[in-house]
Order: sequence, then C-alpha cells, then structure tokens
Amino acid sequence: MKVLLVGNGAREHAIAERLAEDCELYTVMSKKNPAISQLSKQHWVCDIENPSEITKAVEGIDFDLGFSSPDATLAAGVSDALAKAGISMASPSKDAARIEWDKGFMRKLMDEYKIPGAPKHKLVNSLEEAARIINNYGSVAIKPLGLTGGKGVRVSGDHFTNISETVHYAEELIKKDGLVLIEEKLVGEEFTLQAFCDGTRICFMPPVQDHKRAFTGDKGPNTGGMGAYSSGKLLPFMLESELEAAQNIMRSTIHAMKKNQTPFVGILYGQFILTANGIRLIEFNARFGDPEAMNVLALLKDQLSDIFLSMADGQLDNANFSDESTVVKYLVPEGYPTKPVKDVAVTIDTRSIESCGAKIYYASVYEKGGHILTTNSRSFGILGKSTTLANAEKIAEQGCKFVHGPVWHRSDIGTKKLTDSRVSHMAFLRDKS
Ligand SMILES: Nc1ncnc2c1ncn2[C@@H]1O[C@H](COP(=O)(O)OP(=O)(O)O)[C@@H](O)[C@H]1O
Ligand SMILES: [Mg+2]
Repeated sequence: MKVLLVGNGAREHAIAERLAEDCELYTVMSKKNPAISQLSKQHWVCDIENPSEITKAVEGIDFDLGFSSPDATLAAGVSDALAKAGISMASPSKDAARIEWDKGFMRKLMDEYKIPGAPKHKLVNSLEEAARIINNYGSVAIKPLGLTGGKGVRVSGDHFTNISETVHYAEELIKKDGLVLIEEKLVGEEFTLQAFCDGTRICFMPPVQDHKRAFTGDKGPNTGGMGAYSSGKLLPFMLESELEAAQNIMRSTIHAMKKNQTPFVGILYGQFILTANGIRLIEFNARFGDPEAMNVLALLKDQLSDIFLSMADGQLDNANFSDESTVVKYLVPEGYPTKPVKDVAVTIDTRSIESCGAKIYYASVYEKGGHILTTNSRSFGILGKSTTLANAEKIAEQGCKFVHGPVWHRSDIGTKKLTDSRVSHMAFLRDKS
C-alpha cells in the first residue's frame, strides 16, 4: 500500500513510524527530517502550506491513502487538494478543520447544537462590548479566532494583572481581526483527549496530559509542549464519569459537524479542563497533538494504516490500545524558548537509547555534513513506555541522557511528585466548591 504523509515534526515521525510498518511511505516536508526521510521510499521538500506545490510534487504516483498532519496545512486546504487529485484522505478538509482554525465557528457550533461543556463566552466586535463583557466575567481568556501557534491566547492572572490591560488586548485584536472571543477564565486540570473519526463514528484514544510551561513546576513561558504522560484508561486526577463527559462532548461534536454539512474525517483533539464544576472544553484541534501523538501511537495495538483507511472510507470500526503508561520528554535547545541556540551539533547514542527501552523521535533538527543540528524549536521527543507510570518516567529520563550536546528537558514530567500535585490540586478545587 502506498501512503502519503505531509509534515515533518516529531509527531509526524511517530505517525511515519507506524505507517511504515506495513506500507510504502512517501512524505512531503517543509524541511527534511532526517528520521522521516529514512522511513520514506521517497520524500519531497516544499512549502507544505501550498497545496498546489504538494500536488505537483507527488504527481504520477498512485497513492492508496493520504494524511496531512500539521494544523496550518489543514487550514490551507492540503487535504482538499490531495482528495481532488484522487487520493483517499484520512485528514480533514479545510471546512472540517475550521473547528480548529476558527474558534468563533467552534463556539457557534457548540451553541447551535447545544453541545455541553462550553465556558461562558462571547464573540465581540466593539471595544465597548468587550469592556462590558470583561467587567461582567471578571477573570477571562482573550482569544484571537485563528491559528497563532499557541501564542495568541492571554489569560487574566497569567498575562494580565488588571482590567485595563485586558481590555487593551481585546482592543488590539478587534483592530487586527475585527472580532475577538472572550471567555470566562476556568480553573482546573487540563488534559487532551484524541479520537479517530470517519465523519460519523468516533474511536477514542487514551487521555494524555501535556505540559506547556517551559520550566520545572509549571513555571516560565509557554512552549509548544515540553512533554506529556498517559496512565492507561484514566489520568490520575480524573474519574471515569469525567472522561465519559469529555467523550460525550466529542461525540456530540462529530454529530453536529455532520449535520452542519462539514463532516469531520481525521483526528479530533479535544483540549479539556476538569474544573470543580465538571468538564469544560477549551478548544478543539483537527489533528494529533505534539507530543501527545507519541504517547498514544506507542499504545495502539492495531495497524495505523488500517484505521486511517477505514476513516477515509467512512468505515471506522474500532481502535484498540494497551493499558500501559507512557511518558514523553522533549529535549529542547539550550535557551529555549526565549533564546534557543540553533545550528549546534548534537550526538545521539541510538543504541543506548534502545537498550534502555526508550525511543527517540526527531522534531525540529536537520542534518549537515553528517551531523544533526538544532534549530530554534524543540529537538527530540524521548518516549518511555511501561506497565507503570513510574517506570515509563524512568525510561524516558534515562533515554534523555543519551543525547549529547546543548539540549535540556523538564525532568519533572511524569514523576510521582508532579502527578500527585495534580491530584491534590483537583481535590482542593472539589473540596472548595
Ligand atoms: N477559558 C479559559 N480559561 C482558562 N484558561 C484558558 C481558557 N482558554 C484557554 N486557556 C488557556 O490558554 C491556553 C491556550 O488556549 P487555546 O484555546 O487552547 O488556544 P491555542 O492552543 O490555539 O493557543 C490553554 O491551553 C489554556 O491553558
Ligand atoms: Mg490549545
């Protein structure tokens, strides 16, 4: 089977690895990922946000299946262009991916179809109204509607210390985009729930908790994600009924998307927050998370290519996952995220990584003169998997030691100390309410 994959991060390395198990893999990348290119029968480097460049590059090969992975490619209509070229696509159309690239569309869909789990929210186009809503809600999240690479949303307390700063940011966004989304600020524990979708049916993957903050103890600036863990069917701080509430929100959303004439075929990523008052939806993404893809794909018992095919055909049946735990730690360049050292060589002791049971996924690095060099983004994801979370964490931590050079990672991700603090945070919030 010939499969085409678009994208070149660690997330795509994990996808590529699973697809290459039983398929002939072809890849389109914006920069050559040394590990993905090794897994590929053929690869192309081009502007992956330009659909016609991609279709031109891959012309002449009869693909059985295609998957475009990064958010920006979906918003650019890459799935649509490849579908038009005759490829069966397992990633969402531009209209379906709107659930991610237009937060206003997402909230309106939830309102219209009475999908539970939305915080109080308002789409606003005037400064007066923005000021009124901000004063009314008190603590808020101010959100641009489009894709911002995780850098657009600002939250009271984290980014604003007073109302006038908050109103000022809302004004800035109204001037730029004509519209801003204002939501009440939610307090709780965030987690990710990803699912395979075929337009009608949905199959859930195990829940994962990501860590956006740069430094130990969730301090410092936000990043693309420093690492994530999963602990089987549930995360340590949640109840089964709470996971079911999150699943119900996603199931209802897939039904709503179908009724809305924008059926969702692809990976639906629900970003949730568990509050003292139950589950709330922060946002949807139309793709795997990065790092969360590495956590869940390591647990998938079925062939990924079979699942993708069934999604593209509208015949999704089941997806089976092992109950093991996983921990992914991202190795990032020294100085990341504010002043990353780029173009610096790192050496990878692959054999030692393998022998300690860890796996390495290549993110934003490149090859030159036989060396692997860093860029200003995250460098490698190191995965540990085991029957216990403690052991998975140990394996990931050990694996990190075998990449030599100016890179660092958050050693607290997946540790008992940190997961216990999540549990006590939730217990505290539940008690208080
Ligand atoms: N209503 C909210 N209350 C509290 N925090 C929020 C809220 N909405 C977003 N956030 C915080 O801001 C982050 C980014 O918001 P999100 O809607 O996921 O946008 P994006 O990922 O596109 O930047 C979230 O991960 C969460 O930590
Ligand atoms: Mg988000």
